[in-house]
Amino acid sequence: MRFAVIGTGAIVEKFLAAARSVPEFSLAAVYSRTEERGAAFAAAQGAPLHFHRPEDLAACPEVDAVYIASPNYAHCEQALQMLSAGKHVLCEKPLASNAAEVRRMQACAKEHGVLLLEAMKSVFLPGFSVLAQNLPLLGRLRRVTAVYCQYSSRYDKFKQGIVLNAFDPKLSNGALMDIGVYCVYPVVKLFGLPRKVQSTAVKLTGGVDGAGSILLDYGEFQADLLYSKIADSALPSEFQGEDGSLLVDRISEPQRLTLCPRRGQARPLYDQTEDAPMRHEIAFFQQLLREPQRAEAYSRASLETAMVMDEARRMTGIVFPADAR
Ligand SMILES: NC(=O)c1ccc[n+]([C@@H]2O[C@H](COP(=O)([O-])OP(=O)(O)OC[C@H]3O[C@@H](n4cnc5c(N)ncnc54)[C@H](OP(=O)(O)O)[C@@H]3O)[C@@H](O)[C@H]2O)c1
Repeated sequence: MRFAVIGTGAIVEKFLAAARSVPEFSLAAVYSRTEERGAAFAAAQGAPLHFHRPEDLAACPEVDAVYIASPNYAHCEQALQMLSAGKHVLCEKPLASNAAEVRRMQACAKEHGVLLLEAMKSVFLPGFSVLAQNLPLLGRLRRVTAVYCQYSSRYDKFKQGIVLNAFDPKLSNGALMDIGVYCVYPVVKLFGLPRKVQSTAVKLTGGVDGAGSILLDYGEFQADLLYSKIADSALPSEFQGEDGSLLVDRISEPQRLTLCPRRGQARPLYDQTEDAPMRHEIAFFQQLLREPQRAEAYSRASLETAMVMDEARRMTGIVFPADAR
């Protein structure tokens, strides 16, 4: 499949490094807002084409699919332009600024008969399937604690008064959108929409959220989601049932799972280091074109994730310019 990439940041470099081990992937083009940067990035990555006008990328017949890795606020408009031109789209998380945008993007993909997938890398890793398959071992589920707290490499600059993209709510960025989504999506993918969402947030200068908590009420059990981009956490995530608990080393990249039965010894369920975790989402994206019926569950999870995050933002007063579009 002939891909183009939108964005020239570190995540695109990781994506392309991972894509090298994915059969059928080829890099056809690079889009950058700046012609020089696009040309330099294309040359460094071995892409034959580069564009700085999005309409030229959309019209390019040598591109089948586009990986979008721009700031969150830009996902919707860029995806709509590519989908309308008949390109399949693999879009970075969170899929959009809000659920209304997700609905527009999904309707557009449907109308044009193309694939739209949120690149939520965690759920395409084998560790996530092992987690889902082993949940019945826990008996009746009573609590999920999903933790992702990571001191952002851009936070030191923020403390000096320099607001980089990662801390700019004008770009629909902040702890919930950038980090919290890694806690919301897998829980919603496994259990669907909760009955109720409650949330609080730690706001920084200028109103951006630096950290937060979401409590999801699923009736028989609850899910606590803890996320931060201003502090690290050493805690694993945990699925807690009446018969035992299951520890997940990292909810954003499950690589080590441990089963702790209520009676008996803890034992490893899964332990596999991933050198290039993004290769799984790329391979799955290509696979979905052969099995499109499997896409529905992921579309639903993306929309329901956006709905939960909208509600968490409503409760914490986090508003983006994109919400008024
Ligand atoms: N899957 C993962 O592990 C992972 C990790 C990090 C980030 N992400 C996601 O990837 C996306 C990009 O994150 P990032 O940290 O790389 O973002 P970023 O550095 O702020 O921007 C990414 C690229 O978008 C372009 N860009 C920068 N500012 C822009 C603006 N104001 N308007 C339009 N385009 C702009 C730039 O490319 P040009 O200058 O060349 O146009 C830049 O290289 C986000 O959705 C984020 O949540 C995913």
